[in-house]
Amino acid sequence: MTPQLGDRLKGTVVVIGAGIAGLITAYTLLRDGFEVQVLTRDAEAGGVWSQDRIYPGLFLNNVHGEYRLSPMEMSPLVERSDVRLGGQDLNKYTTAFASTFLKGKIEYGIEVHRIRRGPAGSGWQLEVLNRSTALPETRLYDRLVLCTGGCSAGFVPESLSPSAASAAGFHRIVCHSVDFGRKRAELLASVPEIGLEPSRTIPSIVVVGGGKSAQDICTYLANERRKVTIVCPDFDAFTARPKPLPDFIRKSRLLALLSPHIHLRTGLERFLHTTRLGKKIVNSWWNRLAEDSYRAAGVPADSPLRRAVRPFWHTRVNDEGVPRSNGFHALVSAGKVEVICPARVARYGRDGISVILEDGRSLPASAVVLSTGYRSSWPTIFDEETTKDLGLDPQPVNDTTTHQWKYTTLSNAPPLHPEAKRWSSTLYHGIVPAKHIVHRDLAVNGAVLSPNFGYTTEVTAHWISSYFLGDRFLRLPATSEEALALTEREAAWLRTRYPQIPTALNNSHTSYLAFWSWPQHVDDLLEDMGLPVMRSGGNALTWPLKVVDLKEISSLKEERDKKRAGKKS
Ligand SMILES: Cc1cc2nc3c(=O)[nH]c(=O)nc-3n(C[C@H](O)[C@H](O)[C@H](O)COP(=O)(O)OP(=O)(O)OC[C@H]3O[C@@H](n4cnc5c(N)ncnc54)[C@H](O)[C@@H]3O)c2cc1C
Ligand SMILES: *[C@@H]1O[C@H](CO)[C@@H](O)[C@H](O)[C@H]1NC(C)=O
Ligand SMILES: *[C@@H]1O[C@H](CO)[C@@H](O)[C@H](O)[C@H]1NC(C)=O
Ligand SMILES: *[C@@H]1O[C@H](CO)[C@@H](O)[C@H](O)[C@H]1NC(C)=O
Repeated sequence: MTPQLGDRLKGTVVVIGAGIAGLITAYTLLRDGFEVQVLTRDAEAGGVWSQDRIYPGLFLNNVHGEYRLSPMEMSPLVERSDVRLGGQDLNKYTTAFASTFLKGKIEYGIEVHRIRRGPAGSGWQLEVLNRSTALPETRLYDRLVLCTGGCSAGFVPESLSPSAASAAGFHRIVCHSVDFGRKRAELLASVPEIGLEPSRTIPSIVVVGGGKSAQDICTYLANERRKVTIVCPDFDAFTARPKPLPDFIRKSRLLALLSPHIHLRTGLERFLHTTRLGKKIVNSWWNRLAEDSYRAAGVPADSPLRRAVRPFWHTRVNDEGVPRSNGFHALVSAGKVEVICPARVARYGRDGISVILEDGRSLPASAVVLSTGYRSSWPTIFDEETTKDLGLDPQPVNDTTTHQWKYTTLSNAPPLHPEAKRWSSTLYHGIVPAKHIVHRDLAVNGAVLSPNFGYTTEVTAHWISSYFLGDRFLRLPATSEEALALTEREAAWLRTRYPQIPTALNNSHTSYLAFWSWPQHVDDLLEDMGLPVMRSGGNALTWPLKVVDLKEISSLKEERDKKRAGKKS
């Protein structure tokens, strides 16, 4: 080891969070020689998959084998290879990962309250609380990786909050979906089961929202024989098929080929996204995907379930695989979940037993579950000054810089979300605040929305490690100004590609969107490190049908080691 590298390894990296992102970040940094300490407020690893958060009927969206990390197989932990994985499976996987690779490195039950710059203006000072003793403590670390998750803090509209409920005299259970795992036993105990005939005397459990969490919770409650009503302005889109799709379609880069990226790496992508014929092919493909999915799930043409976002333009898309007979869409068709859509719940009624919709309708409720989305997990741990200082806060959109992507597939876009019009995310690649880029002591993993979360966070972990190590081969903006300009360009791209998503406002979740184009984003990171891209192989024509396998990134450490050694000699 050269002295220079030794210097870079000095001190301790604190990783906040022990979900998928925290686990792979800690693992990667440890193997690269860093001293690492992981902190989590939870009693075990897993984050959203920890025992406190999961519940029966919570299924993973992804096809088997896709959502994992390369150092550990899903089997033999989880035997079945044909079905959807559930919350319990992911819990097993993440806790096993922690006990296999990170023994003694994770402190559980530690809540981080405040993060500031260290005393001499370098390093980090953390104020933490041991949750079992409630004793506060101050800790000092040299580097910091935020893996606090995009779905770890619930967004609760003021008018629907538990305090608004008690003010209105609504004393039944009100909880956000982040607390559903903890609250579900209490909730079930408070609402009677329906008899053979759905009883008109029992009010519904009202689930607010049309996303995956809302649908999963409705499904769980209906299967527990509770009367449930979902109220939402629209639904997540979904993909479904009568039979499992072959791996060369579902686990390949085919979907990514049909989604344009900030730059088009291949001839096939340039053909599809910049020509009129290409646009026709792409459009008809996406239209068919939606239509075939409705058909596979038995959703009639006039069903409110068709009030969904357009999958091409959005990240609110779930893969249902082969629809289950006790799944959400089937339960709606069977009348076991009542749907009120389009509609919004405005507030609690003055009678203390109902909620009032925006159109004035009153809906008796035996409980209310708020599946109203998530907010950033950062405002609670950084004060305003530190947020500004580090450049974690959203920036106003800079109108003087116009970026244009003349892609045929991007015409006829839906309107820009009003908040997306005003704010840009400031995290370069969704990893480092652009303003802070030269300091090499702060990074984020898990704030890039990706449907192959294990793959993207693993490659990101290597990028972060090279960034901390000062690896010369890592392509990086030289100044914060340059990083800001590149980040504004990325933000402009996201506004063009996913106009309905206000990325900057939920920045611990959506600092960057690598949704349909997650493989291209991963290739950008690999290219930054000077490593081979498009790792699933194939030639100029066959690459889109090659199955993506985590094995293809399992030796990134060795590849980076070799590059580092090569550069020195
Ligand atoms: C119900 C649900 C279903 C989902 N289903 C899917 C799916 O099917 N497919 C998919 O790809 N994604 C799904 N997701 C998205 C999911 O968030 C990501 O896939 C992934 O699990 C996030 O991992 P993470 O490590 O970034 O964050 P998390 O798993 O949220 O972990 C955050 C970690 O940070 C810690 N933490 C946060 N704040 C603090 C603090 N102040 N002090 C101390 N510790 C702190 C937490 O304790 C936790 O350990 C789902 C999310 C939810 C909520
Ligand atoms: C929190 O306090 C309890 C009780 O003193 C102790 O057993 C535990 O180890 C502490 N947790 C951490 C992570 O320091
Ligand atoms: C992100 O923020 C916007 C605006 O505050 C909000 O409407 C939206 O629901 C949030 N998205 C998520 C995924 O929570
Ligand atoms: C907007 O972008 C231009 C061009 O990159 C730059 O010169 C200018 O300083 C930016 N304005 C603000 C307010 O950041």
